[in-house]
Amino acid sequence: MAIQPVIRLGDPRLLAVAEEVKNFNTAKLDQLIEDMFDTMYAENGAGLAAPQIGIGLRVVIFGFDTNTRYPDSGTVPKTILINPLIEALDENKQEGWEGCLSVPGMRGVVSRYSRIRYTGFDASGDTIDVTAEGFHARVVQHECDHLDGIIYTQRLVDPARFGFIEELQRAGCFNSNSS
Ligand code: NI
Repeated sequence: MAIQPVIRLGDPRLLAVAEEVKNFNTAKLDQLIEDMFDTMYAENGAGLAAPQIGIGLRVVIFGFDTNTRYPDSGTVPKTILINPLIEALDENKQEGWEGCLSVPGMRGVVSRYSRIRYTGFDASGDTIDVTAEGFHARVVQHECDHLDGIIYTQRLVDPARFGFIEELQRAGCFNSNSS
């Protein structure tokens, strides 16, 4: 168990394009993934990308049964996704509030594809091929953006719908009880 510090917006490592994983089934990769889950759970995250703990590899994890940071989001299957590719299944997009462990205490509205197919590999190198919609699809798009050095703040629909959680709650923008 090794919780890692999550690097925050402003750190240039968050803006770098991450490299593909070439070797699967290695102790090093398993350790990275274990550290990522420990960190995500410690921070109550919905997902985490390797660059957020300073590792420039195309590895994301996500998933939860319920999440206190996103109480209305339903269940997202626990997933390790390596070298991911995302394909939008149609042109429909949905606006929704997003946060990020690298931008603590804040939320903003981002438009994402409603229905996607994502492919990639698990830690053993076995193929993953999943169709997702709603919050599940949103989390995958958010996490995979990190691999290309994109933070959700670069995708805000409207700068007026971005701010500190406490203030947004006070203004009645959404209900959520932590960062
Ligand atoms: Ni994020």
